[in-house]
Amino acid sequence: MFDTMTVTKAGGALCGALLIFLLGKWAAESLYHTGPVAHGDEEVAQAYTIDTGASEGGEEAAAEGPSFEELFASADAAAGEKVFGKCKACHKIDGSNGTGPHLDGVVGRAVAGVEGFGYSDGMVAHGGNWEPAVLDAFLANPKQAVPGTKMSFAGLPKPEDRVNLIAYLQSLGG
Ligand code: HEC
Repeated sequence: MFDTMTVTKAGGALCGALLIFLLGKWAAESLYHTGPVAHGDEEVAQAYTIDTGASEGGEEAAAEGPSFEELFASADAAAGEKVFGKCKACHKIDGSNGTGPHLDGVVGRAVAGVEGFGYSDGMVAHGGNWEPAVLDAFLANPKQAVPGTKMSFAGLPKPEDRVNLIAYLQSLGG
């Protein structure tokens, strides 16, 4: 059926294919090595370690970006004054109320604490003081932080804008 030459060629082709396959496998393995490599006695760590979140808690927190305290510690009040431009239509800082209550000394002030201002029930129900972190949550999403608030403001999505603004409001004092 087959002469010797055909069998030899077929065998050669098979060996060649096998060789290419082995070479490819070797090349792929050296490129994408998985699992620890044993160098002598010591094991070398993998090139890529996928963080499954199962490791130390510190790493997990870092993955979510800096905390509010960290951001607030490096806040820029001058930049916050510009952000306050978004609030000026409704809020004054001269002690008089506009559409919204005045914001003099608002950092640390009692929530819904300006006398004579007609707050919404939601704001009155909030209670507590406008500590920096509380303000941060409110300014990120007013309607979510204070359900039923009558402050028609979408919120400041950027954490940097919020900390800068809070630092500015704090710098105004009371
Ligand atoms: C469209 C008008 C409007 C804008 C813009 C606006 N506010 Fe207000 N704000 C209000 C009103 C109205 C209230 C009262 C809300 C209530 O009683 O539910 C309020 C309440 C507040 C309170 C609570 C004060 C207190 O005495 O408890 C803070 C703090 C505040 N605003 C900060 C800001 C900041 C900071 C900005 C800008 C990023 C801003 N607001 C933008 C209208 C506005």
